[in-house]
Amino acid sequence: TRLLVLHGPNLNLLGTREPEVYGRVTLQQIDQALSKRAAQAGAELTSFQSNHEGALVDRIQAARAEKVDFVLINPAAYTHTSVAIRDALAGVGIPFVEIHLSNVHRREPFRHHSYFSDQAEGVICGLGWKGYLYALEFALDRLAPDTG
Ligand code: DQA
Repeated sequence: TRLLVLHGPNLNLLGTREPEVYGRVTLQQIDQALSKRAAQAGAELTSFQSNHEGALVDRIQAARAEKVDFVLINPAAYTHTSVAIRDALAGVGIPFVEIHLSNVHRREPFRHHSYFSDQAEGVICGLGWKGYLYALEFALDRLAPDTG
């Protein structure tokens, strides 16, 4: 089982970026927690962060050749702008869960629309960094319902 975690722009700043909104856990800590849980379940997990839309598109395209089974993605600001990343996910046909640390629906109106939610298996938002772990549990269960 192969899983790919994608983090969009500015998420490399987690830990120091608006901690009252995004918490104090760093991206490295999140990725470590995800890798640990995936390894326990016998799954392969790779994480990738980029501040560049095209780099995220390229990474998604590569995922098909790598036979990635499931994607966990926090598109960050690209959530609200990127037809290109949406199309890349649709293009490779890999199921995904959309994750946001903050409750985007409790924030500015421009954060209420997502280019991803109507294509996602599910959406987790507002549950902080553990939202990634909850999404991972879902993915593991979906991919190997008897072993999770
Ligand atoms: C975010 C919410 C987005 O609106 C914002 O642009 C981000 C992070 C979140 O995880 O809460 O960068 O995706």
